[in-house]
Amino acid sequence: MAIALYPGSFDPVTLGHLDIIMRSANIFDFVYVSVAVNPSKQPVFSTEQRIRYLQVVTKDIGNVEVVTFNGLLVEAAKEYNAGIIIKGLRAITDFEFEFQMALMNKKLAADVETLFMATNTSYSYLSSSLVKEVAKLGGCIKGLVPPEVHDEIFSQLR
Ligand SMILES: Nc1ncnc2c1ncn2[C@@H]1O[C@H](COP(=O)(O)OP(=O)(O)O)[C@@H](O)[C@H]1O
Ligand SMILES: [Mg+2]
Repeated sequence: MAIALYPGSFDPVTLGHLDIIMRSANIFDFVYVSVAVNPSKQPVFSTEQRIRYLQVVTKDIGNVEVVTFNGLLVEAAKEYNAGIIIKGLRAITDFEFEFQMALMNKKLAADVETLFMATNTSYSYLSSSLVKEVAKLGGCIKGLVPPEVHDEIFSQLR
């Protein structure tokens, strides 16, 4: 069984995230989407909301489950028996930090591999922060977040 863990803040989930989730679910036997509960970060959406939006948009994907993690990512991977950590890569700007994290995680846990998946070109400019910024200023976020959760996300951000 190839089990993967896809971690992130998902504050909120975007179509870029969902694209990575669907492609990962086609490759691996099981994918845990893991919502970071980091007390030092101040997310706009609560942990419960971020989990629920992910659950709604992945409900038809049989081999995906939404979980949470705090603390060391490699420990979370071990807890779920995941030998692979998936990271989405957008631009060069994602690379340096993610590369450093991958090497550190490899040092912490030699048996856990980080796998980088290149963004879908349609979503290469898309980030949760940009979604929040645009919606706050009254801009349209249709086509940026999954349609099933658009209204709830948009109304909270306005
Ligand atoms: N548009 C996108 N295309 C591909 N991957 C993405 C996109 N947006 C975010 N990701 C990836 O999804 C993961 C979670 O991102 P994010 O929710 O911003 O959490 P974090 O706080 O870890 O940056 C990261 O691996 C990030 O690179
Ligand atoms: Mg990010």
